Amino acid sequence: MSIKLKVRYLLLALIVGVLLSNCTKAYIPKDTESNLSPAINGTDTIKYQPHISVAISNNCIGCHGGSNPQGGLSLENYNQVRNSTENGMLIQRINDASDPMPPSGLLPSQTRLLFDRWVQNGYLEN
Ligand code: HEC
Repeated sequence: MSIKLKVRYLLLALIVGVLLSNCTKAYIPKDTESNLSPAINGTDTIKYQPHISVAISNNCIGCHGGSNPQGGLSLENYNQVRNSTENGMLIQRINDASDPMPPSGLLPSQTRLLFDRWVQNGYLEN
């Protein structure tokens, strides 16, 4: 192989390498907690407003709100959500893979962890 050809192959390999590494990077989430709704980071204090109430509105209120809530459980306000969290039922069901809430399947772990952090932070309301 001539030197010129070798240099060409080398350049080609370099370009492909750069392209591939760029592609790979594009699929690695910048922030592993970016799925949280609303966006929070690992050190934020979790409060009912806004974090918990948004998670509930997005995932639960369709069934656990209104005049005839499913399972007789309303999760429309701070006291109701706090009660269900404090008695252990809510955290148990959102983490129960064989009988999950919502029934469609386990939420992303970051969303479920919000509730644990809310407990650790002392059930702050806002
Ligand atoms: C598609 C409707 C639906 C959604 C969405 C839903 N649930 Fe439920 N949930 C039910 C039904 C129906 C029951 C009663 C039957 C059962 O316990 O499986 C129930 C029961 C529960 C119970 C047990 C109540 C008790 O005292 O026995 C908890 C706790 C609960 N849900 C929490 C949640 C939370 C938290 C979310 C959101 C993360 C959620 N659910 C989303 C339909 C839903």
